Amino acid sequence: MLRQALLGVSRSSSIKTLTVRAPVTRQVVSRFVAGEEVEHAIDATRRLTESGLLVTIDHLGEDTTDRAQADAVAGAYAALLSGLTAAGLADRAEVSVKLSALGLLLGPDGPQIARANAEQICHAARNAGTTVTLDMEDHTLTDATLEVLRELRRDFPDTGAVLQAYLHRTEADCRDLAYAGSRVRLCKGAYAEPASVAFVDQREVDRSYVRCMKVLMAGAGYPMLATHDPRLVEIGRFLARDHDRASESYEFQMLYGIRPAEQERLAGLGHQVRVYLPYGNDWYGYLVRRLAERPANLTFFARSLLTRS
Ligand code: FDA
Repeated sequence: MLRQALLGVSRSSSIKTLTVRAPVTRQVVSRFVAGEEVEHAIDATRRLTESGLLVTIDHLGEDTTDRAQADAVAGAYAALLSGLTAAGLADRAEVSVKLSALGLLLGPDGPQIARANAEQICHAARNAGTTVTLDMEDHTLTDATLEVLRELRRDFPDTGAVLQAYLHRTEADCRDLAYAGSRVRLCKGAYAEPASVAFVDQREVDRSYVRCMKVLMAGAGYPMLATHDPRLVEIGRFLARDHDRASESYEFQMLYGIRPAEQERLAGLGHQVRVYLPYGNDWYGYLVRRLAERPANLTFFARSLLTRS
């Protein structure tokens, strides 16, 4: 309930202004975000890879309503990929992209604009020797995102998808996407969704995650198990053993700043672990989703605001 309320309230522009302006917000942001500039993302990538982790970098931003801004986001990714190449990190870091940041919502031409921008990023990633994964946003964009994914995969078959276990449809989507070469990141889902399309009870979401994970781990694709949930990680490890999966045929993924010791522990056990690393100045939506996931984060944030004001 708290989660749904927080995600709903976050749409208010006055709440956004208040939050973004509070000086203490920056401290909380820095737990989850590498920094505002591309150099910050590259420095953090270097540190993470030195600890044996892989990285996927997200240039923060979503729901772009302006064509020039959408094109600028594609340019920012191209610059990021050049920076990764120059730093010698492109073999251990890929990029994650939100189609709404690339223009998906720009009216009837939105899907075409987003696809063209995504293609540009895929080209830059290929030149750098790495890959792109399309983040998944709220359920109103699922079909459009999967359609762009299908189109991109014709030329860039290694483009990764994200599926959200909280959606009723996802087990079937996992079956469709569990084919050889198909990279699929499975997460629980981070948006406020209605009961008509999503499981609302967290136990139902967890059960759905297990069913989806079973489909992906039994399939011929490349599963990317994105969760910090210790029980789900253990089930993922069990399924990998059960299906005789080589350690390079799947990976675990976690968010920057969340359970970092567990990330290193899993890597130490021989698993591939990739950290989702956001950077940029448009961090508000991302921060709210992280606060909504865990009431303790919210308490920490509220306490910091009170003690500093
Ligand atoms: P759950 O929320 O149950 O958390 C399990 C445990 O993890 C908690 O008990 C706590 O210990 C820790 N934890 C989880 N979240 C925390 C937080 N914010 N702060 C501190 N501790 C926390 N979603 C989406 O809709 N579209 C997407 O494209 C992506 N992409 C994505 C990529 C990657 C690599 C990850 C790891 C996650 C996403 N997500 C996402 C987010 C995902 O849907 C989900 O909201 C979060 O991962 C939290 O869910 P968990 O599976 O970790 O379980």
